[in-house]
Amino acid sequence: MSETITITRPDDWHLHLRDDDMLRAVLPETTRHFGRAIIMPNLVPPVVTAENAIAYRDRILASLPEGDDFQPLMTLYLTDHTDKEDLAAAHASGLITAVKLYPAGATTNSASGVTDIKLVMPVLEKMAEIGCPLCIHGEVTGTDIDIFDREAVFIDTVLDPLRRALPELKIISEHITTKNGVDYVMSANSNLAATITTHHLIINRNHLFAGGIRPHYFCLPIAKREHHRLALRQAATSGDARFFLGTDSAPHTNPNKESACGCAGVFSATNTMSCLAHVFEDDGALNQLERFTSLNGPAYYGLAPNKARLTLVKSAIPMDYPTHIKTANSEVTVFDPGFPLHWRVV
Ligand code: DOR
Ligand code: ZN
Repeated sequence: MSETITITRPDDWHLHLRDDDMLRAVLPETTRHFGRAIIMPNLVPPVVTAENAIAYRDRILASLPEGDDFQPLMTLYLTDHTDKEDLAAAHASGLITAVKLYPAGATTNSASGVTDIKLVMPVLEKMAEIGCPLCIHGEVTGTDIDIFDREAVFIDTVLDPLRRALPELKIISEHITTKNGVDYVMSANSNLAATITTHHLIINRNHLFAGGIRPHYFCLPIAKREHHRLALRQAATSGDARFFLGTDSAPHTNPNKESACGCAGVFSATNTMSCLAHVFEDDGALNQLERFTSLNGPAYYGLAPNKARLTLVKSAIPMDYPTHIKTANSEVTVFDPGFPLHWRVV
């Protein structure tokens, strides 16, 4: 007999959709299962003004597969020169749901990011005043800091001082990858939550080098040691309202991944819900899956959960899913969790 679980339709609180051909190729992979997603603004050039956000939202809506009920939740890309009045108006009108802080140079298309948090304090104060959440890519950028330590150092040197200076600012520490990140979020009483990706619940840093270099497991923040992965699993499956899903599904074409200097990003939109059902089942926490994917995120953002439902069925025969998604001129490799997927969305 097959097992079934029905949950509130999930949301993805951190998603890269890109633009043009890539947008059209990857969007259905998300809208098939997810009701809403926080859309990352790191296009080239980035989404920095309300005008940019309107245009990008319209391009997403124009690419929506017919019949899919999906709402893109737009963000602005914070720069040293962000106009706080433009931001405030975009938030007040409902155009944007949050603002994204990339430390300059931290990751893909972050060159226009914030060079020094002090420069954006007036904007952050305005955001605290109007209740606009800040999504943070929490890694320091100095090449003198070991890549595996950049998240922990960011918490100590940037995030904690920021929260002390501006406790009213609502923050989402995105794609946390360390026990330090988990512990820090758990130590906070209010205005701090974290997203966790599907892949960071499944791979540790060994997977990057299993039998050779594995470019499709390379992302930022980079996967850490096993004890960090276990802390993330514990946080995600605990039901704690401060942790929720942000897949950080980040498509790059195969030539751009499988290169002498491959891009960072794991593309997991296609099979995320199946992977997560396995993770939660393995940890004896299937009853917490809905909190992680569908309830905690909306609650933190002050939104109602989706009305629609999503059902997953477990069958003895593993499901078939595409290992690649075709773009106009290339392909994007779908995340390989390293185990067969018996849970599938119906
Ligand atoms: O691995 C990543 N890919 N991490 C990020 O922060 C950005 C993303 C991308 O845009 O490709
Ligand atoms: Zn991202």
